[in-house]
Amino acid sequence: MMERLFKTKSIDSIISESEMGNNKLARVLGPFDVTMIGIGAVIGAGIFAMVGEAAVKGGAGPSLIISFIITAIACGFAALCYAELSSMVPISGSAYVYSYATLGELVAWIIGWDLIIEYAIGNVAVAISWSGYFNDLLNSVFGLNIPIWLRTDYRTFVQKGLDLASVPHIFGIPIVFNLLAMFVVAFLTWILVRGIKESASFNSFMVLLKIAILLLFIGIGFYYFNADNWKPFAPGGWKGIHIGAATIFFAYIGFDAVSTVAEETGNPKRDMPIGIIGSLVICTILYILVTMALTGMMPYENLKDKISEPLVAGLQYNGVGKWAVAIISFGAVVSTTAVLLVFQMGQPRIFFSMSRDGLLPKSFSKVHEKYKTPHITTIWTGIFVGLLAAVSNIDEMANLCNIGTLFAFILVCVGVILLRIKDPKRNRPFKAPGGFITPILGAAFCLYLVMGLDKVTWIRFVVWLAIGIMIYVFYGYKNSNLENRNIS
Ligand code: ALA
Repeated sequence: MMERLFKTKSIDSIISESEMGNNKLARVLGPFDVTMIGIGAVIGAGIFAMVGEAAVKGGAGPSLIISFIITAIACGFAALCYAELSSMVPISGSAYVYSYATLGELVAWIIGWDLIIEYAIGNVAVAISWSGYFNDLLNSVFGLNIPIWLRTDYRTFVQKGLDLASVPHIFGIPIVFNLLAMFVVAFLTWILVRGIKESASFNSFMVLLKIAILLLFIGIGFYYFNADNWKPFAPGGWKGIHIGAATIFFAYIGFDAVSTVAEETGNPKRDMPIGIIGSLVICTILYILVTMALTGMMPYENLKDKISEPLVAGLQYNGVGKWAVAIISFGAVVSTTAVLLVFQMGQPRIFFSMSRDGLLPKSFSKVHEKYKTPHITTIWTGIFVGLLAAVSNIDEMANLCNIGTLFAFILVCVGVILLRIKDPKRNRPFKAPGGFITPILGAAFCLYLVMGLDKVTWIRFVVWLAIGIMIYVFYGYKNSNLENRNIS
């Protein structure tokens, strides 16, 4: 049995299976689309909302710039490992497929299960953030306000000290749920069912727009830059920088989503490394410039007053007009929409791969006859994320997303090491430089970041994994195709 659990699927069989049968996805994406998918997944709630929390929580202040660099280095090492594996195993399914080829079925299942935390739970957090900004946008442009009981969850409502008596009741039960967050998830699910090419073009448009809006903010920030705001540069010392780095990790999550569309690219060996590394470099430069601008245009302590809208706080501190607030809110809505789109696109493709292997029901790997998309998993993902976003708290979801993603990154780095030892001669169209140093440093940096997360998050993560293992024992182990397959 132990042998079976750790048996791996050979890379050749993984590739040949994806080319067979009716469950083949259309190869319509190029390197530009892929880089855009990466940026689309990365720049979102992290830079528009969590940069304030990251600067204030541990007292990082202006030294959050260093936190960004540390996190970028961790992600950079992991990205190189992702690029190496995704160019060798150019198949839909991300770290799940790579680990199937390197670490065996049990670990692959655990990663696939864990990736639900990154994609679906991450999107729950982003959808909640979307709803807040969407309301700000309506408010700053039209003076409209969606009632608060339709754009937040019950617990957050109570924590904010709001009056439950003021909301409608049905059979004596107060009605508080995030209808706005559900709405955006439903809308994007509809787009994704209709086809990936349309979705990718829509994504590229939104990405260009959000880069332009961040550049505008950077320009305004540097105009109001005051060197006194950088004294002291690191008020929280090294600890503040560490906490800042762990918190801001959320802003980087997503570049690996590129690897989930490998099966839909024209030339994965070239497109994957360009997409992953290109999107990471572009985002890091933008983040550092935004943080320099923000911490230079106002004393960082003042962010406390408007913690979830830090960029707006910077503008208001300097008395910049309402027009700028409207533009930045618009930028946040566009950015979070792009993130939602990419993650809603990535999650079904992981389910798709798991189903093709027999670890999830076969119906999950059906492709829509007309649109050629994995419509069943896309719709299930939409239902799961939409319902959870209606009732969840954003901080809890973001933390859970951070731990799940870091765990997956660590396993990808380990996978690179194992595969190089096990199969050194295989053609590696892209090889992470620096020998074993890159994957070792990747795993070490991610471990350092994961240690910055709180105990409750760890407990939630362990419970989630335990549920996943039960499902594997009672379903996946029995239904897996592995026994009938060319295994190595
Ligand atoms: N990196 C993504 C964001 O910041 C998850 O929204």
